[in-house]
Amino acid sequence: EPEDQLKLRPPIITIMGHVDHGKTTLLDRIRDSRITASEAGGITQHIGAYKIEHDGKPVTFLDTPGHAIFSAMRARGADITDIVVLVVAANDGLMPQTLEAIDHAKKANKTVIVAINKCDLESANPMHVKTQLAERGLQTTDFGGDVECLEISALKGTGVDDLLDLLALQAEVLELKANPKGHARASIIEAKYQQGRGAVASVIVESGTLKTGKPFICGPFAGKVKALINDRGETIKEATPGTPVEVIGFEELPRVGDSLVEMESDRDAKKLAAERQDELRAERLKVPQK
Ligand code: GTP
Ligand code: NA
Ligand code: MG
Repeated sequence: EPEDQLKLRPPIITIMGHVDHGKTTLLDRIRDSRITASEAGGITQHIGAYKIEHDGKPVTFLDTPGHAIFSAMRARGADITDIVVLVVAANDGLMPQTLEAIDHAKKANKTVIVAINKCDLESANPMHVKTQLAERGLQTTDFGGDVECLEISALKGTGVDDLLDLLALQAEVLELKANPKGHARASIIEAKYQQGRGAVASVIVESGTLKTGKPFICGPFAGKVKALINDRGETIKEATPGTPVEVIGFEELPRVGDSLVEMESDRDAKKLAAERQDELRAERLKVPQK
């Protein structure tokens, strides 16, 4: 991409950690913190991700904790996560799924920020967690390493602002940029059939600006953006890089991790879809070689 076309984009954050260590509580706490009094009680539509503004800087969170979505996306070559927040309960320490998450993040070469959670508990032992992390090759900064680590309570909200500060800062360090011009490309993060709306998918825009009315290809199917709905349930006209948005206008249900790519015309989209369907058919007909 020409350097001058690139603009800063929000970081995309995935939260991982062991069962019951507080991933959902943290995601809820962060999401609720940006809801203003006038919106209180108004339920935000769930679209699998949300974007907040922290000190004027946007940060996008995948709203599906756990490893499944991360793995499903990577299996399709979709690699949209920039930073992994590893949640570890301070009273429990590193557990099997914590180790699995560390493994996933390492393999994918992701920046990991550790949130030692439940620090409000009497039995919290953040020092022990840091020792365990160091034993796994994740030296936190106070242990002379370079892994950023915060002690938080997702339940009480303690340290959550510091975590957001750190995420915004890390995003700057990583210099996350994308070109908002040109044809849009987005990754499917969630897809479902809905009564009266057909196949609906949530995407995160990776580059370009996704606009209503534009034709696209997604897997072996053509489509056209009929409507875009943001994470507050509002209809919008366009979505820029790093923005999660719900897209209506799929011919068929896409798969998580599939790429939606804007096309020049309906004709181009249909032509490419036909080619991809032919390829799939040919593959299915292939007789295994002896
Ligand atoms: P799974 O989705 O089942 O893997 O769990 P999770 O990681 O999403 O944990 P969840 O947010 O559901 O929290 C599990 C339990 O821990 C709940 O009872 C929360 O209220 C509690 N919890 C979460 N964060 C904190 C915290 O900071 N302090 C305390 N004391 N409890 C917490
Ligand atoms: Na739980
Ligand atoms: Mg949960």
